Amino acid sequence: MKTAAQKNIAVLNHPLIKHNLAVLRDASTNTEAFNMALKRISYALVFEATKFLPTKTVKVKTPIKETENEIISDEIEIIAAPILRAGLVFSDIVQNMLPFAHIHHLGMYRNEETLEPIWYYNKMKGKFKNPDKTYVFILDPMLATGNSGYDAVHNFVKQGIKQENIVFMSLISAPEGIERLTGAYPDIRIVTSQIDETLNEKGYIVPGLGDAGDRIFNTV
Ligand code: URA
Repeated sequence: MKTAAQKNIAVLNHPLIKHNLAVLRDASTNTEAFNMALKRISYALVFEATKFLPTKTVKVKTPIKETENEIISDEIEIIAAPILRAGLVFSDIVQNMLPFAHIHHLGMYRNEETLEPIWYYNKMKGKFKNPDKTYVFILDPMLATGNSGYDAVHNFVKQGIKQENIVFMSLISAPEGIERLTGAYPDIRIVTSQIDETLNEKGYIVPGLGDAGDRIFNTV
């Protein structure tokens, strides 16, 4: 049985996801192949992450007949918040799938000694007209220590966004990061394609895939 803290964690379990994860993990995969595999998984993550969005019924005329259809509710606001820089890889896909989403970049880098995030960019204070109806997708391929994830979630919760309307979307997650986020915010949702073993002493996910930003942007 799932504990309260695990109830909102979705792990993609699919042969195509596993296949593409193997490509991503392989240290010999070049940047082009890496980014292709990452895009393939990203679409699946976005489908899963957006499963709970409210819809409304509209009438649509096909060439044959009028029908009732569901579309995403136009009463809600959707925010996609990529944590720079690796999260950018997801924001393109989210924008493609949800063209009406607002993209709010969260600039943080990691202090390599303390593993704590240091903010350098956040322009989104006080922007939400209706926090109750705002849905937030925090985007970061690697949920490692959860320190930057925690800061990102906190940033929205303190502005009145409901925890259950916040999704942390990651490619690979470490148990430590999941614990950190769900320990503080038990009602947020986490969507990931894999939960790995642990973190190493530098805060990297084991086995992971190395530094996601370096591999996406070819700065290895
Ligand atoms: N960030 C990364 O890019 N990789 C990790 O393993 C952990 C954090």
